[in-house]
Amino acid sequence: MSTKLNIFEMGPRDGLQNEKTLIPTVNKIELINRLSGCGFEKIETSSFVSPKWVPQMADAAEVFANIVRKPGIRYTALTPNIKGYERAKSSAADEVAVFASASEGFSKKNINCSIKESFERFAPVIEAAKADDIPVRGYVSCIVECPYDGPTPAHNVAMVSERLLQMGCYEVSLGDTTGVATPETTEAMLDAVLKVIPAEQLAGHFHDTRDLALSNIMSSIKLGLRTFDSAIGGLGGCPYAPGAKGNVSTLAVARMAELLDYDTGLDIEKLKHTQEFILSIKEAAAA
Ligand code: HMG
Ligand code: MG
Repeated sequence: MSTKLNIFEMGPRDGLQNEKTLIPTVNKIELINRLSGCGFEKIETSSFVSPKWVPQMADAAEVFANIVRKPGIRYTALTPNIKGYERAKSSAADEVAVFASASEGFSKKNINCSIKESFERFAPVIEAAKADDIPVRGYVSCIVECPYDGPTPAHNVAMVSERLLQMGCYEVSLGDTTGVATPETTEAMLDAVLKVIPAEQLAGHFHDTRDLALSNIMSSIKLGLRTFDSAIGGLGGCPYAPGAKGNVSTLAVARMAELLDYDTGLDIEKLKHTQEFILSIKEAAAA
Protein backbone atom coordinates (compact mmCIF):
# COMPACT_ATOMS: atom_id res chain seq x y z
CA MET A 1 0.00 0.00 0.00
CA SER A 2 1.33 3.42 -0.88
CA THR A 3 2.32 5.96 1.78
CA LYS A 4 0.01 8.90 2.42
CA LEU A 5 1.16 12.36 1.40
CA ASN A 6 -1.06 15.11 2.85
CA ILE A 7 -1.69 18.12 0.67
CA PHE A 8 -3.16 21.16 2.42
CA GLU A 9 -4.88 23.40 -0.14
CA MET A 10 -3.94 27.08 0.23
CA GLY A 11 -5.55 28.51 -2.93
CA PRO A 12 -8.49 30.46 -1.49
CA ARG A 13 -6.26 32.15 1.14
CA ASP A 14 -2.55 32.28 0.26
CA GLY A 15 -3.45 31.92 -3.40
CA LEU A 16 -5.82 34.86 -3.59
CA GLN A 17 -4.70 37.21 -0.80
CA ASN A 18 -2.26 39.04 -3.05
CA GLU A 19 -4.49 39.49 -6.12
CA LYS A 20 -4.55 43.17 -7.03
CA THR A 21 -8.13 43.12 -8.31
CA LEU A 22 -10.80 41.98 -5.87
CA ILE A 23 -12.01 38.51 -6.80
CA PRO A 24 -15.82 38.44 -6.40
CA THR A 25 -16.90 36.61 -3.23
CA VAL A 26 -19.23 34.37 -5.25
CA ASN A 27 -16.23 33.10 -7.25
CA LYS A 28 -14.25 32.39 -4.08
CA ILE A 29 -17.19 30.38 -2.76
CA GLU A 30 -17.45 28.43 -5.99
CA LEU A 31 -13.69 27.77 -5.92
CA ILE A 32 -13.93 26.33 -2.40
CA ASN A 33 -16.97 24.23 -3.31
CA ARG A 34 -15.10 22.82 -6.30
CA LEU A 35 -12.00 22.15 -4.17
CA SER A 36 -14.26 20.30 -1.72
CA GLY A 37 -14.93 17.78 -4.48
CA CYS A 38 -11.23 17.18 -5.23
CA GLY A 39 -10.39 15.01 -2.19
CA PHE A 40 -8.69 17.46 0.21
CA GLU A 41 -8.97 17.00 3.95
CA LYS A 42 -8.04 20.63 4.68
CA ILE A 43 -8.72 23.80 2.73
CA GLU A 44 -7.43 27.17 3.92
CA THR A 45 -10.57 29.08 3.22
CA SER A 46 -9.74 32.68 4.15
CA SER A 47 -8.08 34.84 6.77
CA PHE A 48 -9.51 36.98 9.55
CA VAL A 49 -6.85 39.66 9.34
CA SER A 50 -7.27 43.41 9.19
CA PRO A 51 -9.13 44.32 5.99
CA LYS A 52 -6.98 47.45 5.83
CA TRP A 53 -3.88 45.27 5.61
CA VAL A 54 -5.28 42.64 3.22
CA PRO A 55 -8.40 43.95 1.44
CA GLN A 56 -8.74 40.76 -0.63
CA MET A 57 -9.65 38.79 2.54
CA ALA A 58 -12.22 41.33 3.86
CA ASP A 59 -15.05 38.98 2.84
CA ALA A 60 -13.87 36.07 5.03
CA ALA A 61 -17.11 35.88 7.05
CA GLU A 62 -19.26 35.94 3.91
CA VAL A 63 -17.15 33.22 2.32
CA PHE A 64 -17.43 30.99 5.41
CA ALA A 65 -21.19 31.62 5.64
CA ASN A 66 -21.89 30.55 2.08
CA ILE A 67 -19.63 27.62 1.24
CA VAL A 68 -21.17 24.16 1.16
CA ARG A 69 -19.25 22.27 3.82
CA LYS A 70 -18.42 18.71 2.98
CA PRO A 71 -18.25 16.40 6.01
CA GLY A 72 -14.67 15.35 6.79
CA ILE A 73 -13.06 18.51 5.41
CA ARG A 74 -11.55 21.12 7.73
CA TYR A 75 -12.19 24.65 6.46
CA THR A 76 -9.41 26.69 8.06
CA ALA A 77 -8.47 30.34 8.51
CA LEU A 78 -5.57 32.56 9.55
CA THR A 79 -6.05 34.42 12.84
CA PRO A 80 -3.30 36.93 13.73
CA ASN A 81 -4.80 38.00 17.08
CA ILE A 82 -7.75 37.47 19.41
CA LYS A 83 -9.97 39.72 17.30
CA GLY A 84 -9.28 37.50 14.30
CA TYR A 85 -9.92 34.42 16.42
CA GLU A 86 -13.32 35.71 17.61
CA ARG A 87 -14.28 36.44 13.99
CA ALA A 88 -13.13 32.96 12.91
CA LYS A 89 -15.08 31.33 15.74
CA SER A 90 -18.25 33.25 14.81
CA SER A 91 -17.80 31.94 11.28
CA ALA A 92 -17.37 28.38 12.58
CA ALA A 93 -13.89 27.88 11.13
CA ASP A 94 -12.91 24.24 11.79
CA GLU A 95 -9.27 25.10 12.43
CA VAL A 96 -7.31 28.32 12.83
CA ALA A 97 -3.67 29.24 12.29
CA VAL A 98 -1.33 31.71 13.90
CA PHE A 99 1.53 32.94 11.77
CA ALA A 100 4.95 33.85 13.07
CA SER A 101 8.20 34.69 11.35
CA ALA A 102 11.75 33.45 11.84
CA SER A 103 12.99 36.95 10.97
CA GLU A 104 12.28 40.21 12.80
CA GLY A 105 12.02 42.26 9.60
CA PHE A 106 9.19 40.20 8.14
CA SER A 107 7.38 39.94 11.47
CA LYS A 108 7.27 43.73 11.70
CA LYS A 109 6.17 44.25 8.09
CA ASN A 110 3.60 41.46 8.05
CA ILE A 111 1.94 41.67 11.46
CA ASN A 112 3.34 44.92 12.84
CA CYS A 113 5.11 43.47 15.87
CA SER A 114 8.33 41.75 16.94
CA ILE A 115 8.59 37.96 17.11
CA LYS A 116 8.38 38.14 20.93
CA GLU A 117 5.26 40.32 20.78
CA SER A 118 3.72 37.95 18.25
CA PHE A 119 3.93 35.08 20.78
CA GLU A 120 2.17 37.32 23.31
CA ARG A 121 -0.63 37.90 20.78
CA PHE A 122 -0.87 34.22 19.87
CA ALA A 123 -1.10 32.97 23.47
CA PRO A 124 -4.73 34.05 24.06
CA VAL A 125 -5.70 32.79 20.58
CA ILE A 126 -4.27 29.35 21.32
CA GLU A 127 -5.80 29.27 24.82
CA ALA A 128 -9.25 30.24 23.53
CA ALA A 129 -9.04 27.73 20.68
CA LYS A 130 -8.05 25.00 23.13
CA ALA A 131 -11.08 25.81 25.31
CA ASP A 132 -13.30 25.74 22.20
CA ASP A 133 -11.70 22.51 20.94
CA ILE A 134 -10.53 24.14 17.72
CA PRO A 135 -7.15 22.89 16.42
CA VAL A 136 -4.44 25.52 15.88
CA ARG A 137 -1.75 25.29 13.24
CA GLY A 138 1.39 27.45 13.31
CA TYR A 139 3.26 28.98 10.41
CA VAL A 140 6.87 30.12 10.44
CA SER A 141 7.76 32.43 7.56
CA CYS A 142 11.12 33.23 5.97
CA ILE A 143 12.66 29.86 6.81
CA VAL A 144 15.76 30.40 4.69
CA GLU A 145 15.74 34.06 3.77
CA CYS A 146 13.90 37.27 4.60
CA PRO A 147 13.32 40.03 2.06
CA TYR A 148 14.23 42.58 4.75
CA ASP A 149 16.88 40.85 6.93
CA GLY A 150 18.68 38.54 4.45
CA PRO A 151 19.54 34.89 5.21
CA THR A 152 17.69 33.39 8.20
CA PRO A 153 19.79 31.40 10.71
CA ALA A 154 18.36 27.87 10.88
CA HIS A 155 18.34 27.95 14.69
CA ASN A 156 15.82 30.85 14.55
CA VAL A 157 13.47 28.60 12.56
CA ALA A 158 13.95 25.78 15.08
CA MET A 159 13.38 28.12 18.03
CA VAL A 160 10.21 29.75 16.69
CA SER A 161 8.78 26.38 15.56
CA GLU A 162 9.50 24.78 18.92
CA ARG A 163 7.84 27.66 20.73
CA LEU A 164 4.68 27.41 18.60
CA LEU A 165 4.40 23.70 19.35
CA GLN A 166 5.01 24.24 23.06
CA MET A 167 2.23 26.85 23.03
CA GLY A 168 -0.22 24.27 21.66
CA CYS A 169 -0.04 24.24 17.85
CA TYR A 170 -0.50 20.68 16.54
CA GLU A 171 1.80 21.24 13.55
CA VAL A 172 4.16 23.88 12.20
CA SER A 173 4.21 24.76 8.54
CA LEU A 174 7.64 25.96 7.44
CA GLY A 175 7.22 28.78 4.93
CA ASP A 176 9.68 29.66 2.20
CA THR A 177 7.74 32.90 1.88
CA THR A 178 9.58 34.39 -1.08
CA GLY A 179 10.40 31.08 -2.78
CA VAL A 180 14.18 31.44 -2.66
CA ALA A 181 15.01 28.09 -1.02
CA THR A 182 17.05 25.49 -2.87
CA PRO A 183 17.31 21.77 -2.00
CA GLU A 184 20.62 22.56 -0.24
CA THR A 185 19.26 25.41 1.92
CA THR A 186 16.06 23.46 2.58
CA GLU A 187 18.04 20.46 3.83
CA ALA A 188 20.36 22.59 5.97
CA MET A 189 17.36 24.31 7.58
CA LEU A 190 15.52 21.01 8.12
CA ASP A 191 18.60 19.36 9.63
CA ALA A 192 18.50 22.00 12.38
CA VAL A 193 14.72 21.88 12.89
CA LEU A 194 14.54 18.07 12.92
CA LYS A 195 16.99 18.00 15.82
CA VAL A 196 14.25 19.44 18.03
CA ILE A 197 10.96 18.57 16.26
CA PRO A 198 9.81 15.26 14.77
CA ALA A 199 9.00 15.28 11.04
CA GLU A 200 5.36 14.30 11.81
CA GLN A 201 4.78 17.73 13.35
CA LEU A 202 6.18 19.64 10.38
CA ALA A 203 4.78 20.67 7.01
CA GLY A 204 6.54 22.24 4.03
CA HIS A 205 5.14 25.46 2.52
CA PHE A 206 7.07 26.33 -0.62
CA HIS A 207 6.57 29.18 -3.03
CA ASP A 208 7.78 28.60 -6.58
CA THR A 209 9.65 31.82 -7.44
CA ARG A 210 12.71 29.94 -8.73
CA ASP A 211 10.85 26.87 -9.99
CA LEU A 212 12.50 24.84 -7.23
CA ALA A 213 9.48 24.18 -5.04
CA LEU A 214 9.04 20.58 -6.24
CA SER A 215 12.76 19.88 -5.68
CA ASN A 216 12.47 21.35 -2.18
CA ILE A 217 9.47 19.13 -1.51
CA MET A 218 11.49 16.11 -2.68
CA SER A 219 14.30 17.04 -0.28
CA SER A 220 11.78 17.42 2.54
CA ILE A 221 10.18 14.05 1.74
CA LYS A 222 13.64 12.42 1.93
CA LEU A 223 14.00 13.90 5.43
CA GLY A 224 10.64 12.49 6.53
CA LEU A 225 8.05 15.26 5.98
CA ARG A 226 4.70 14.02 4.68
CA THR A 227 2.56 17.18 4.69
CA PHE A 228 2.85 19.98 2.13
CA ASP A 229 0.94 23.17 1.42
CA SER A 230 0.13 24.07 -2.18
CA ALA A 231 -2.30 26.22 -4.14
CA ILE A 232 -4.47 25.32 -7.07
CA GLY A 233 -3.12 26.91 -10.26
CA GLY A 234 0.08 27.90 -8.45
CA LEU A 235 -1.76 31.00 -7.25
CA GLY A 236 -0.25 33.23 -4.67
CA GLY A 237 2.13 35.63 -3.13
CA CYS A 238 2.30 37.63 0.06
CA PRO A 239 1.49 41.35 0.06
CA TYR A 240 4.26 41.96 2.63
CA ALA A 241 6.96 39.87 0.91
CA PRO A 242 8.04 41.69 -2.26
CA GLY A 243 8.99 39.31 -5.05
CA ALA A 244 7.11 36.34 -3.60
CA LYS A 245 5.55 34.36 -6.43
CA GLY A 246 2.88 31.74 -6.27
CA ASN A 247 2.65 28.74 -4.02
CA VAL A 248 3.71 25.47 -5.54
CA SER A 249 0.91 24.24 -7.81
CA THR A 250 -1.38 21.63 -6.25
CA LEU A 251 -1.70 19.79 -9.56
CA ALA A 252 2.10 19.61 -9.92
CA VAL A 253 2.50 18.20 -6.37
CA ALA A 254 -0.35 15.72 -6.90
CA ARG A 255 1.17 14.52 -10.19
CA MET A 256 4.64 14.17 -8.69
CA ALA A 257 3.19 12.26 -5.74
CA GLU A 258 1.37 9.90 -8.10
CA LEU A 259 4.57 9.23 -10.07
CA LEU A 260 6.39 8.46 -6.82
CA ASP A 261 3.55 6.19 -5.67
CA TYR A 262 2.39 8.35 -2.77
CA ASP A 263 -1.31 8.46 -2.01
CA THR A 264 -2.72 12.02 -1.85
CA GLY A 265 -6.40 11.05 -2.12
CA LEU A 266 -6.76 13.76 -4.78
CA ASP A 267 -8.66 13.48 -8.06
CA ILE A 268 -6.33 14.77 -10.79
CA GLU A 269 -9.12 15.39 -13.33
CA LYS A 270 -11.15 17.43 -10.85
CA LEU A 271 -8.04 19.39 -9.90
CA LYS A 272 -7.48 20.21 -13.58
CA HIS A 273 -11.04 21.51 -13.99
CA THR A 274 -10.82 23.52 -10.76
CA GLN A 275 -7.52 25.01 -11.90
CA GLU A 276 -9.04 26.02 -15.26
CA PHE A 277 -11.96 27.59 -13.41
CA ILE A 278 -9.92 29.78 -11.06
CA LEU A 279 -7.38 30.80 -13.70
CA SER A 280 -10.24 31.98 -15.96
CA ILE A 281 -11.76 33.95 -13.05
CA LYS A 282 -8.40 35.52 -12.30
CA GLU A 283 -7.96 36.48 -15.95
CA ALA A 284 -11.44 37.98 -16.11
CA ALA A 285 -10.85 39.97 -12.91
CA ALA A 286 -7.58 41.36 -14.27
CA ALA A 287 -9.05 42.29 -17.69
P1 HMG B 1 -2.17 46.70 13.58
O1 HMG B 1 -2.50 47.87 12.72
O2 HMG B 1 -0.91 46.73 14.39
O3 HMG B 1 -3.40 46.28 14.54
O4 HMG B 1 -2.16 45.41 12.66
P2 HMG B 1 -4.16 47.03 15.67
O5 HMG B 1 -4.47 46.00 16.71
O6 HMG B 1 -3.46 48.29 16.06
O7 HMG B 1 -5.55 47.42 14.96
C1 HMG B 1 -5.63 48.37 13.91
C2 HMG B 1 -7.00 48.27 13.25
O8 HMG B 1 -7.19 46.99 12.66
C3 HMG B 1 -8.16 48.46 14.23
O9 HMG B 1 -9.23 49.00 13.50
C4 HMG B 1 -8.51 47.03 14.61
O10 HMG B 1 -9.82 46.87 15.06
C5 HMG B 1 -8.33 46.32 13.26
P3 HMG B 1 -9.53 50.59 13.49
O11 HMG B 1 -9.72 50.94 14.95
O12 HMG B 1 -8.30 51.26 12.91
O13 HMG B 1 -10.75 50.70 12.64
N1 HMG B 1 -8.01 44.89 13.42
C6 HMG B 1 -8.68 43.90 12.81
N2 HMG B 1 -9.75 43.90 12.00
C7 HMG B 1 -10.20 42.70 11.58
N3 HMG B 1 -9.64 41.52 11.94
C8 HMG B 1 -8.56 41.48 12.74
C9 HMG B 1 -8.05 42.71 13.21
N4 HMG B 1 -7.02 43.02 14.02
C10 HMG B 1 -7.00 44.35 14.14
N5 HMG B 1 -8.00 40.31 13.07
C11 HMG B 1 -2.54 43.06 12.33
C12 HMG B 1 -1.87 44.14 13.18
C13 HMG B 1 -1.98 41.72 12.75
C14 HMG B 1 -4.04 43.10 12.54
C15 HMG B 1 -2.21 43.36 10.83
O14 HMG B 1 -0.84 43.55 10.71
C16 HMG B 1 -2.65 42.29 9.91
O15 HMG B 1 -3.85 42.07 9.72
N6 HMG B 1 -1.69 41.55 9.26
C17 HMG B 1 -1.99 40.44 8.42
C18 HMG B 1 -1.08 40.43 7.23
C19 HMG B 1 -1.37 39.21 6.38
O16 HMG B 1 -2.46 38.70 6.35
N7 HMG B 1 -0.34 38.75 5.64
C20 HMG B 1 -0.46 37.62 4.78
C21 HMG B 1 -0.59 36.31 5.51
S1 HMG B 1 0.95 35.66 6.11
C22 HMG B 1 1.62 34.82 4.79
O17 HMG B 1 1.13 34.95 3.69
C23 HMG B 1 2.74 33.86 5.01
C24 HMG B 1 2.27 32.39 4.99
O18 HMG B 1 1.61 32.08 3.78
C25 HMG B 1 3.45 31.45 5.14
C26 HMG B 1 4.62 31.79 4.21
O19 HMG B 1 4.47 31.78 3.00
O20 HMG B 1 5.68 32.07 4.78
C27 HMG B 1 1.32 32.10 6.15
MG1 MG C 1 2.69 31.56 1.84
